[in-house]
Amino acid sequence: MSMYRFAKLIFKRWQHWFVVLLLISESPLLMAADDGLNHSLTPRLGERVTAYVSSIVSPDGSGLPNGSGSVTEGKLVYNAKCAACHGVDGKMQSNQIVGGIGSLASERPVVTVGSYWPYATTLFDYIARAMPYGQAKTLSANEVYATTAYVLFLNGIVSEQTRFDATTLLTVDMPNQDGFVELNEIDSNAESGVGKQ
Ligand code: HEC
Repeated sequence: MSMYRFAKLIFKRWQHWFVVLLLISESPLLMAADDGLNHSLTPRLGERVTAYVSSIVSPDGSGLPNGSGSVTEGKLVYNAKCAACHGVDGKMQSNQIVGGIGSLASERPVVTVGSYWPYATTLFDYIARAMPYGQAKTLSANEVYATTAYVLFLNGIVSEQTRFDATTLLTVDMPNQDGFVELNEIDSNAESGVGKQ
């Protein structure tokens, strides 16, 4: 047996343990306990958490804050605060958020904002809540509108002239918006016997 095949075999046998270890090491309990860093809920850098972050933005747009942001403004924010991890074009490997539209059913699906996300509203919510990674919740509402616009522009979903606010964000047609199944559809399929053995 070649070294390569041997290594592959070992990996195959142990890969689920790697996953378990990864999950454990990511768990909030451990993170709070282990590294001595101050994991307080308020950001260490940037402005205070603004009120909008505490309200969840739903697919239907409820919870969206006042304010607005354009593709042009978003480009400036994105290049300063996002490009280091996602690439200037959004296609940095392993952190890709642009491209792959239509690839989900292929052998090599590329999961990105463009190819996967069903709503622009929940993209707003995600960026507001979680990005920039490591400095989450430091963006203003306007900056979140702007970066949402720019990420969708990079994906070819909206034009360069786009400006988003709580109303216009709802008008975006996301390429994969019909690619999801409603939970109650699954339930009724189960009741009617579809999917049962
Ligand atoms: C320090 C690195 C870093 C920076 C800076 C950063 N991101 Fe991220 N981003 C990540 C990582 C890592 C993930 C994956 C997080 C996860 O899966 O839990 C991610 C995920 C995302 C996603 C979700 C991708 C998906 O398909 O699930 C979006 C959208 C996103 N980032 C947008 C942004 C925007 C907009 C900014 C700037 C305001 C930004 N990011 C800044 C590292 C970064």
